[in-house]
Amino acid sequence: MKIIEKFSGVFLIAGLFLLLGAMLSLGIVPAMMVDRVHPQQGLPLEVPEDQRIHYASAKEYQAALLLGRDIYVAEGCWHCHSQYVRPVANENLQYGPVSTPGEYQTALHRPQLLGTRRVGPDLSREAGKKSDDWHYAHLYDPRFTVPDSVMPGYPWLFERNADGQILPGPKAKALVAYLQNLGRGMETDVGDLPPRE
Ligand code: HEC
Repeated sequence: MKIIEKFSGVFLIAGLFLLLGAMLSLGIVPAMMVDRVHPQQGLPLEVPEDQRIHYASAKEYQAALLLGRDIYVAEGCWHCHSQYVRPVANENLQYGPVSTPGEYQTALHRPQLLGTRRVGPDLSREAGKKSDDWHYAHLYDPRFTVPDSVMPGYPWLFERNADGQILPGPKAKALVAYLQNLGRGMETDVGDLPPRE
């Protein structure tokens, strides 16, 4: 006890330094890095082949991706989905290549969307796993494609035409373009999973 009292001044100063270090590494440095990413950084310069029926120019496609990112943020998808394949627990077998820091240096990760919870699966390698139509049905009501899903539906992203048909609105289209761009080109090797006993 006496020793602790004797050095209390040292502990106080050490504590203040640690606090300062934490503020620097968790607050100030990340804020400085956000500023360093150009608003167009990392956006695809060409419309991928499977998206050409929807988007005529790279500019249109980029605008859709950014709008999709905004909707992903606004609807709180990040509450239940991470965008980070961890280098542990053989996650690469389930989701594909482990995430690398460079992947986050893009305008689409401002704000960063790593996520903290996984109620649903990680989405960093979602591109090409499902068809656009699957995503539309799933977004409207996840029970249409996954009967026991606990994910909420997002029917307000859709519109009804004059015949009463439900069609994806501009927001649903942009969100699906965004999902189909997540980890594009990074193959998932789900096929390599060893057989379960
Ligand atoms: C309350 C938690 C929750 C929220 C919020 C949520 N999801 Fe999900 N999501 C899930 C769960 C659980 C699954 C797994 C079951 C299923 O496929 O529906 C899932 C599955 C998915 C899948 C399928 C992934 C795959 O390859 O199997 C996609 C894509 C997806 N969600 C996108 C979204 C988007 C986009 C949003 C926001 C508009 C969103 N989710 C919001 C819980 C959530």
